[in-house]
Amino acid sequence: MTASAHDDPAPHPHATAEEVEAALKDTKLAQVLYHDWEAETYDEKWSISYDERCIDYARGRFDAVAGDQPLPYERALELGCGTGFFLLNLMQGGVAKTGSVTDLSPGMVKVALRNAEGLGLSVDGRVADAETIPYEDDTFDLVVGHAVLHHIPDVEQSLREVLRVLKPGGRFVFAGEPTTIGNFYARWLGRATWEVTTRVTKLPFLADWRRPQAELDESSRAAALEAVVDLHTFDPGDLEKIAKSAGAEQVHAATEEFAAALLGWPVRTFEAAVPPEKLGWGWGRFAFTGWKTLSWVDEKVLRHVVPRGFFYNVMITGVKPGN
Ligand SMILES: C[S@@+](CC[C@H](N)C(=O)[O-])C[C@H]1O[C@@H](n2cnc3c(N)ncnc32)[C@H](O)[C@@H]1O
Repeated sequence: MTASAHDDPAPHPHATAEEVEAALKDTKLAQVLYHDWEAETYDEKWSISYDERCIDYARGRFDAVAGDQPLPYERALELGCGTGFFLLNLMQGGVAKTGSVTDLSPGMVKVALRNAEGLGLSVDGRVADAETIPYEDDTFDLVVGHAVLHHIPDVEQSLREVLRVLKPGGRFVFAGEPTTIGNFYARWLGRATWEVTTRVTKLPFLADWRRPQAELDESSRAAALEAVVDLHTFDPGDLEKIAKSAGAEQVHAATEEFAAALLGWPVRTFEAAVPPEKLGWGWGRFAFTGWKTLSWVDEKVLRHVVPRGFFYNVMITGVKPGN
């Protein structure tokens, strides 16, 4: 089954000025325009790969809340799949045998299906809104999502839909959602890094560290649309309440990345503000080793002394009653 088998809309990567204007007042149109536009370059932009590095990362997020479950699940669904980063890497990591990738953006579904085919995975896909999931009741053993809940207007409605399409006893795992406190300091650090970098690189002797103005303007326009698509941040306890209110049981939220996020956000913003060729292998090594080291400090030390709401990422799991 392919995306086109459901008469899904075609990708629309070149939005007109009128469409962008309309999208500023319509979050779902903004999602489609923004993510269709990003789809073909998304993996490169976010350093997404389908090798051991990202398999370990995806498994790590899954295991942090559902690591004690027997694997593999037979049939899994991903909501807001993007290019397939989470489900395809989880499947490669032995979490599920077959999968269905879905996203509001046709461009993303197309890339996710292409990635799955390249990896030889048993995956179908279709365009789908997470608030009205186009699958029958009791279809899946596992539903996953990464960095998608904060884009969905009615999160509880979406989780009700997740529980509807799960088989009784089936599990959901959503990861990579921003906490309210984490998002506050991440945005602040990102903005400060952007301001300092784009001002300092105006100095004549740093001119070759400055990206062309047209590219900087495009990044600022993308950031404006980003403000329309990023709808929520979550307190971990509130997210647990939403999941329970949707009807889930065995609900549990966990958080991660505090020191790692304090380094990660300035690093990512700096990378976006300067010409990529300026940052060589040494920079990449510094960024990755720094992130790994601080993640270790978060896990081994800070997790025991810092309240969970201060960490940047929240993930949540729960089960459909009635097994
Ligand atoms: C931040 S991206 C994350 C993509 C991917 N999960 C990842 O982690 O790389 C969020 C994705 O959610 C999709 N999305 C946003 N709102 C949605 C909705 N209501 N239903 C389904 N997908 C949605 C977007 O199109 C986008 O591809």
